[in-house]
Amino acid sequence: MPTELTWLGHASWQLNTGKHALLIDPFLDDNPVATVKSKDVAADFILCSHGHFDHVADAAKIANRTGGTIVSNYEISEWFAKQGVKNTLGMNLGGSASLPFGRVKMTIAFHSSQLPDGSYGGNPGGFLISLTKGPRIYFACDTALFGDMKLIGSAGIDLAVLPIGDLFTMGPKDSIEATKLLSPSRVVPSHFNTWPPIAQDPQVWAEMIRSNTTAVPIVLKPGEKFSF
Ligand code: NI
Ligand code: MN
Repeated sequence: MPTELTWLGHASWQLNTGKHALLIDPFLDDNPVATVKSKDVAADFILCSHGHFDHVADAAKIANRTGGTIVSNYEISEWFAKQGVKNTLGMNLGGSASLPFGRVKMTIAFHSSQLPDGSYGGNPGGFLISLTKGPRIYFACDTALFGDMKLIGSAGIDLAVLPIGDLFTMGPKDSIEATKLLSPSRVVPSHFNTWPPIAQDPQVWAEMIRSNTTAVPIVLKPGEKFSF
């Protein structure tokens, strides 16, 4: 069964292993480019990279409907648990967890993480997901470029999802440097074209990836999926 990655728009992703449905940073109902609503998505696990609204907005709603587990840093997991979410898993940077679909490691990210109600949201992170007998996928999530991406890439990455929107995260040029450090087989852009301040041309970006790195760029439209 191939692994299926669907862009839900902005930084929201669905990863389907064939057995398990994972959601990353679900922000759907108030997302101007999302093609699905939170009531229509499946989720066994919901991974939240940091506390900003455009990453946690629909996580509790989806977890309560599906019974899925929210995986995030300790502070954000506790915040969801206090709101009545039954299944949460708190992690922290550098830590890994074995889950039914494989192993998840919480990686560093350079960003901020305040929760929508002003609560402290701990440190922002990314996720390195090693599917059992399947590919390894790195979600950098919201971050600046950092040199330790070289260490993260040393695990061998089949697919990296990188922000390219600029302003709040790294922009296209830094994502080229990130791709060189990570040296993934494939790279997918995220966190752009949701609102005018983070508008980017993904085809220009893809051409930069092709001419400067060994990775294959994969550009999706919201709602589109890719199997690998
Ligand atoms: Ni953010
Ligand atoms: Mn964001």
